[in-house]
Amino acid sequence: MCGIVGYIGRRDDVAPLLLEGLQRLEYRGYDSAGIAIHGKSGSKSTGLKSVKAKGRVRDLEAKVPARFKGSVGIAHTRWATHGAPNDENAHPHLDADSKVAVVHNGIFDNASDLRARLTADGVVFLSETDTEVLAHLIGRSEADTLEGKVREAVGQIEGTYGVAVLHADFPDRIVVARNGSPVVLGIGEKEMFVASDVAALVSHTRQVVTLDDGEMATLKADDFRTYTTEGSRTSATPTTVEYEAESWDMGGHDTYMHKEIFEQAEAVDRVLRGRIDDRFSTVHLGGLNLDAREARGVRRIKILGCGTSYHAGQIGAQLIEELARIPADAEPASEFRYRNPVVDPDTLYIAVSQSGETYDVLAAVQELKRKGARVLGVVNVVGSAIAREADGGLYVHAGPEVCVVSTKCFTNTVVAFGLLALHLGRTRDLSVADGKRIIAGLRKLPEQIADILSREDEIEKLAEEFTEARSMLFIGRVRGYPVAREASLKLKEVSYIHAEAYPASELKHGPLALIEPAMPTVAIVPDDDLLEKNRAALEEIKAREGKILAVAHREQEKADHTIVVPKNEDELDPILMGIPLQLLAYHTALKLGRDIDKPRNLAKSVTVE
Ligand code: F6R
Repeated sequence: MCGIVGYIGRRDDVAPLLLEGLQRLEYRGYDSAGIAIHGKSGSKSTGLKSVKAKGRVRDLEAKVPARFKGSVGIAHTRWATHGAPNDENAHPHLDADSKVAVVHNGIFDNASDLRARLTADGVVFLSETDTEVLAHLIGRSEADTLEGKVREAVGQIEGTYGVAVLHADFPDRIVVARNGSPVVLGIGEKEMFVASDVAALVSHTRQVVTLDDGEMATLKADDFRTYTTEGSRTSATPTTVEYEAESWDMGGHDTYMHKEIFEQAEAVDRVLRGRIDDRFSTVHLGGLNLDAREARGVRRIKILGCGTSYHAGQIGAQLIEELARIPADAEPASEFRYRNPVVDPDTLYIAVSQSGETYDVLAAVQELKRKGARVLGVVNVVGSAIAREADGGLYVHAGPEVCVVSTKCFTNTVVAFGLLALHLGRTRDLSVADGKRIIAGLRKLPEQIADILSREDEIEKLAEEFTEARSMLFIGRVRGYPVAREASLKLKEVSYIHAEAYPASELKHGPLALIEPAMPTVAIVPDDDLLEKNRAALEEIKAREGKILAVAHREQEKADHTIVVPKNEDELDPILMGIPLQLLAYHTALKLGRDIDKPRNLAKSVTVE
């Protein structure tokens, strides 16, 4: 949430570069944006200049004047926390003398105390934001260096931040600091970058340094150094970003969501690659940090994630129970961390997150580790906070996911859980034959996904029928239930049609009262041991004149339409059954004219509570 970007270097027209960086970070927030530079006219400094705008980055771009030239600048795209989205609350925030400019991602918990103290000292605030306090604290610091001023100011802050700071008296540097919100440095040739995410840097450099919490950095055009907030130097060896810059492009699709849905066959191939061991009918998961003896000692598994990742975790828990026979369940990390849970030494905790940044998940991991628990991460973004905090884990290798609505990462996360379940199963009681069966099923997935996606036209036509719906019900049983939950979330967040997911078995206990012709039901009906039970639910709905769309392995007589998907092993079927419903959500939203990649009120990477 919120994206920051900064540049210092040889170019003398930094605004277009920063605006392009902001476009790439817009998934993190898109209600206002702003930019500040050290202004230059020829070789003469003209002091700090800033422009801010409510709305999207394109609205900011329209306001940036042609004469806005300089070689050093910072910029921000906002998802409002403190204060409404408007020009005043947009970042950068300046101090009283307009000598300091700050962009910030995160939340200052003690902002109101600091604001009261500064106001009592005569400071006049121009915005309602928490960030403005930092600009004033830096501006009022009497330290001699910018590093000293920032250090002194962040020392008074409680909360999370990734900040970048310009100061009119120190035009040769940008100072950045991190605590709980991501900050990545990009190391170029006579130019340095800073951003919340590599997405904003990769078209300029793939050499990056990720700051740790409690770390700061000074960027100069041809040099950078990192140090702790106490001032001790830290070592920072740049690493190379795994993906090419093009991976962040739309690649000929009209939206990122469409692109990412269609990348799934390839992405699943990637998560499997190099991990399958046919000789022992198992998989190798190098980063797990859990030997066979330790794996056998695990008595219970608790999976924690939010939103889509939580749903992936629910399928993961079922896979683990089925294949490894270890009791497992998933819980929203956002709830778990507030209920003083019993932390059991024999339980293995697994944190799931696409971004690796979601604050609720990170906070749950930190709390668990404080209590001595062992925590693995199932994460997409390499080197992200959750990946670093965990004791081990596996990357899901979905590649960059830009659309706020998660699709390919959900699928890859579930496949990653399939690998983990197989691995744990084979260290315990899963037979060689079952290991082989699951491996064969996993290998079939990319082709089967491609088959489902080739039927986009059929699904697009179906979507037409749902655009009028005010509300929809999604049902499934056991393996199908988390699929129904995820499909219902997809539909509501991208189309704004209300949708609710229920276990099909619970219909009679209440939701059946909702059924009428105007309330369509989407039913997940796999060909497994619950097929007849699921069919009974369809009968009940039909008897009340409900309209039914089934996702099944064969035509369902009671359904008005069936999307027939290829059959895999029973345990792996949930991976495939949600994919047509991603397309259904997409096309329904498109027909309703929704902003597919940036649904209202949402942002990717929820770095606030
Ligand atoms: C929904 C969606 C969100 C995220 C959730 C967790 O499409 O994307 O529900 O799944 O905010 O995010 P991560 O996985 O980054 O921790």
